[in-house]
Amino acid sequence: MAINFRKVSYSYSALKKNKKVKFAVSDVNLEIAEKDEFIAIVGHTGSGKSTLVQLMNALLVPSLGEIDILGTTINPHAKVKLKPIRKQVGLVFQFPEYQLFEETSLKDITFGPKNFGIPTEEAIQKALDAARLVGLSDDILKKSPFAISGGEMRKVAIAGILASNPDILILDEPTVGLDPFGKSELLKLLKRINEEEHKTIIIITHDMEVVSQVAKRVIVLDNAKIVYDGDMKALFKNDEFLINHNLDYPEIMKLMRSLKERLGVDIDIYQYSIEEAYQELSRVLGD
Ligand SMILES: Nc1ncnc2c1ncn2[C@@H]1O[C@H](COP(=O)(O)OP(=O)(O)OP(=O)(O)O)[C@@H](O)[C@H]1O
Ligand SMILES: [Mg+2]
Repeated sequence: MAINFRKVSYSYSALKKNKKVKFAVSDVNLEIAEKDEFIAIVGHTGSGKSTLVQLMNALLVPSLGEIDILGTTINPHAKVKLKPIRKQVGLVFQFPEYQLFEETSLKDITFGPKNFGIPTEEAIQKALDAARLVGLSDDILKKSPFAISGGEMRKVAIAGILASNPDILILDEPTVGLDPFGKSELLKLLKRINEEEHKTIIIITHDMEVVSQVAKRVIVLDNAKIVYDGDMKALFKNDEFLINHNLDYPEIMKLMRSLKERLGVDIDIYQYSIEEAYQELSRVLGD
């Protein structure tokens, strides 16, 4: 197992004897494979999602319990080198402005590969390739990362991680601020990286469309704890659980449900993509 959480809790304030602290992540057990996983982490605001992923690349160290990250064990007392972990597990922050600091967007994207020891010329080439993959123009690359739009900043931060070519990619709300085209291109890119390069990808999102389009596995957090960890398709069949945890259905499922009711036909509403929905509708309604 690539990432393995054993009874992990994290508190933003120091633990003190006889004093109750609030855990942002509480008693989490979790196993994530090094390859081929596509996981969406969902849950309401403040449920602990961002904290959980920052533990996955050792940006935060657990207050209790321990985490294996690709062979390195992190616990409250271990002294370990963090740079190799950051190289292996790339994290795009929820707020990209926290991640950007260089003079130009291109320099920012180049920072990752250079920092991990790739010679400058090659690092620039990797940065340019990554910028092209996320659809950043040369014009933006020349500008300061603080003189571009929120969506462009997001793309610069994503390109920076792609250019470093980590084994596992984690993206905290990567589609926020992107226009519909940018969002759909990003999802296609992540899907391709997952399917062709077999990399494990973990995304945090509030958008159930994103979940249903890309995720194979979903982790639901509620009040610092994992309340669901399993198959994406099974999650959306569990009406009671979704209602209890304030989670919505993907639009495509809502549409199928509404068609079923209005047309009075016996269609299977559990379709997760437009293509699947189309197949099911043609099966029932004919061409
Ligand atoms: N830097 C911090 N210092 C103190 N408390 C924090 C800090 N960051 C987060 N918290 C607290 O930890 C808990 C979990 O926060 P976290 O950011 O992980 O939630 P989240 O699920 O990512 O929320 P969102 O959907 O709003 O991004 C919340 O109660 C939050 O107030
Ligand atoms: Mg968050």
